Amino acid sequence: MNLKKHILCILVLVLISCKENNTSKDLALNSAESHSKIDNIEDKVSALLSKMTLEEKIGQMNQYNGFWNVTGPVPKEGDQAKKYDHLRKGYVGSMLNVRGVKDVRAVQKIAVEETRLGIPLIIGFDVIHGYETLSPIPIAESASWDLEAIKKSAEFAAKEASAAGINWTFAPMVDISRDARWGRVMEGAGEDPYLGCKIATARVKGFQSDDLSSHNSIAACAKHFAAYGFAESGRDYNTADVGTSTLNNIVLPPFKAAKDAGVRTFMNSFNELNGVPATGDKYLQRDILKEKWAFDGFVVSDWGSITEMIAHGHAKDGNHAAELAVNAGSDMDMESYLYVEELAKLVKEGKVDKKHIDDAARRVLRVKFELGLFDDPYKYLDENREKEVIGSQEIHDASLDMAKKSIVLLKNKNNLLPLKKEGQKIAVIGALASDKTSPLGSWRIAAKDNTAVSVLEGLNQYPGNTVTYAKGADVSIGKEEFAFEIKVNTTDKSEFNKAIQTAKQADVVVMVLGEHGFQSGEGRSRTELGLPGVQQELLEAIYKVNKNIVLVLNNGRPLTICWADENIPAIVEAWQLGTQSGNAIAQVLYGDYNPSGKLPMTFPRNVGQVPIYYNYKNTGRPSLPGPNVVFWSHYQDQKNGPLYPFGYGLSYTTFKYSNLKVSNTFTEDKKVTVSVDLTNTGKVKGKEVVQLYIRDMYASITRPVKELKGFELVELNPNETKTITLTLTEKELGFFDNQGEFLVEKGDFEIHVGGSSYTELSENFELK
Ligand code: BGC
Repeated sequence: MNLKKHILCILVLVLISCKENNTSKDLALNSAESHSKIDNIEDKVSALLSKMTLEEKIGQMNQYNGFWNVTGPVPKEGDQAKKYDHLRKGYVGSMLNVRGVKDVRAVQKIAVEETRLGIPLIIGFDVIHGYETLSPIPIAESASWDLEAIKKSAEFAAKEASAAGINWTFAPMVDISRDARWGRVMEGAGEDPYLGCKIATARVKGFQSDDLSSHNSIAACAKHFAAYGFAESGRDYNTADVGTSTLNNIVLPPFKAAKDAGVRTFMNSFNELNGVPATGDKYLQRDILKEKWAFDGFVVSDWGSITEMIAHGHAKDGNHAAELAVNAGSDMDMESYLYVEELAKLVKEGKVDKKHIDDAARRVLRVKFELGLFDDPYKYLDENREKEVIGSQEIHDASLDMAKKSIVLLKNKNNLLPLKKEGQKIAVIGALASDKTSPLGSWRIAAKDNTAVSVLEGLNQYPGNTVTYAKGADVSIGKEEFAFEIKVNTTDKSEFNKAIQTAKQADVVVMVLGEHGFQSGEGRSRTELGLPGVQQELLEAIYKVNKNIVLVLNNGRPLTICWADENIPAIVEAWQLGTQSGNAIAQVLYGDYNPSGKLPMTFPRNVGQVPIYYNYKNTGRPSLPGPNVVFWSHYQDQKNGPLYPFGYGLSYTTFKYSNLKVSNTFTEDKKVTVSVDLTNTGKVKGKEVVQLYIRDMYASITRPVKELKGFELVELNPNETKTITLTLTEKELGFFDNQGEFLVEKGDFEIHVGGSSYTELSENFELK
C-alpha cells in the first residue's frame, strides 16, 4: 500500500472512531500496534465492524435501486422517501442503477457525510457489454474465441463505466445454456463449459484488472448462481431440474473459473434448482461457494429474488424468506426490502445467528476496502474524466475491433463474398439495415437510442458502388420501450413491392434480417426461432427476382434458418455488434477484414431439436449413419444433427489440417501432447481457431461424445503452415463424479482436432 493511501486510511478510521464517540480513543491509532493492524484489510474491517450496530451491519446487506432507471419489477410504490431516510441512517450498503458523476456523488455524499459512520456505498450497474459505447453482445464476443480481445473489451467497459461513477458491474453472466429459446443466451458465452471458463476468466480479469483499487477497474459479479441457463422450455425464470453430473461438469465450472480468476461478487438466481430456489439454497451458496471453494467476496441476490421465494412456494412470508436467504448465504438483498425490515427481528428472535450478519457485512466491507472506497469515496467521481473517457475514440476503436472479430461467416457459395468494391449496383434490404438502435442489443441502459452505425451507413463508406435501400418490411410495430415486449410485424407487407423492384435492378442484394434488439435478453424467450414476422416471406420474395443474396443476420440467439441455408449463397452471422456495428459489417462484406468467428452455440434445424448441443451423450442406442432406423435414437422427421455445429465458422481463405500426433507421456509427467499442422490453403491471410476435443470412451460417469479441451487462434499467410501444439493435463482429462469429486480415470480416449466440433482428424490413446 502506498504512503498516501495509508495515511488516508488512518484518517478515515480516525473519523469513524470520532463520529461514534468524539472522546473515544478506542482505536489508539497513534500506537505502533494499531499501525501494523490497519495495514491489513481484515483488521480494518474488524475495527469498523466493532463500531457498528446490528442495524448498521444489516444496512451493508441492503441494496436499493436508484431513483431513475429500473431493470426489474418494482415491488412497492412510493418508497423514495423511505429509501432516502434509510440512506441517511446508514441502512443502505449499495445502490444500483445510479449513474453519472453528478447522481452518484449525490447519493455517495449522503452515505459518507450524513451517516453516523460514513461508510461509502458500492455503486452497481449492469455493464454487460459496455456502458455508453457498446461492444458486441456477450454471445457475439464469445464467437471471437479471442480471449485477449474479450478481456480488453471488459477492460474498456470498466474504464467507461468507472468514469461514470460505477464501481461494480453485474457481469459476467457465466450461465451455460443449451436452449436458444431462452432470451438470455445473448448475455452468456454459449453452451460449452470449457470455452465458458476461459471467457469467464477473461471477462473477470478485464473488469477488475490486477488492481481493484485503481479508478479504472470495477468489481465483477459471476451470475446467476446457479443453473439459470437451464430454465425448462427456455422460458425465463422457469424451474431448473438438473442432475448432479450436469451440475458438476457443465453448470458449475465457469463459476469456479470466475472464482479462481478472483471475481469479488456472485449473484444468485431467480430459478429454483431441484426444488430449492437458488436464493435460499445453502448447498450452493454456503457449502459449495463459501466453504468448498473458499470464496471470500459477497453474494448479492437477484432483483427481488428473496421475496420471490414466497411465490416459489418455499417461504411462508417475507420474514421467512429473509431468514431462509440469509441462512443460506445470500449476503445482500437487491430490492426485496426484506433484510432491512426483517433481519434485526430475526436475530433477536434467535432465528438467524448474529455470526451470519457479521460474516455478510464483513464480506461487503472487505470488497469496499479493496475497491479503495474507504481511501477516497469520491475517487470514481471526476467530471473531467467522465467527459474525456465516455465515448472516447479509444473506446470506439476497441468496440469496432471486437465487432469485427465477433462476426461468423456461415456460408459463402462461389465466393460471393467479399463484395467487389467498384462498379456494382447493391440493393440493401431490410428494416434492420438502417436501424441505429437494434444493433445495440439488450442491456444498454446507459446507451442512447440511434447511436449505432447502421449497416447502410457502413456500406456507404465505400464509394465505388451504387447503393440503393429499400426497407421491405418492419421487424416490429410501434415504438418500443426497453421494459416492454416488442410487437412483431406479422402482417404489414406494403413495402415488399418496392424492395422487389430495387432487388431486380441490383447486381448483389444485401439483406439484413433477424431480431429486433429487444427480442432477446431478459424476459424475452421465444417458442419459434425463425426470422420473426414477415421477414422469411420477404427473403423468399426477393430470392425469386435475384438469387445473388448476401444475408446478414442480426440476432441475439441461434436461429433456425434451414431455408436460407439451402438457398441463399452467402450468410453472415453479425449478431448485435454494438455501437460500431455497421462499420464492422461493411469491412467484412468488402473483405477489408477476413472473418474468423466460430459459433459458441449450436444452430438447430428446428425448435423440436432444442435443447441441442455438441457435447451430448451417446446413449445405448446411438443414431446410425445413413437413413434413420427405428429403435435407434432419432427423429422420424428430422436429422439428429444441427444446422451449424458448435465451433463452426468459415473464412475468406481455406485451411487444411494434417499430421495429427498424440504423444502420451501421462505416466511420466501427467501430460498428453497433441500436435497438428495447419496450412492456409487459400489466397488471403486469415485466422483459424484450432479446436481440440476429447472423448473418454468409458467411465464411471458416462462422458459426452466430444468435449472441447483446448483451442488456439492462429493467423496464417497464404501457403504458410504452422505446427500447433496443445497439452492435456489431468484437469482436461478428468471429470466430476456425482458427489462433486474430481476423478481422472484410466482407459481409452479419442482425440479430435479440427476447425469445428465436426472435427477432421482423430487419434486414440490409452491413459495408463
Ligand atoms: C437480472 C440481473 C441483473 C439485475 C439488476 C435482474 O433482473 O436477472 O442479471 O443484474 O436485474 O439489473
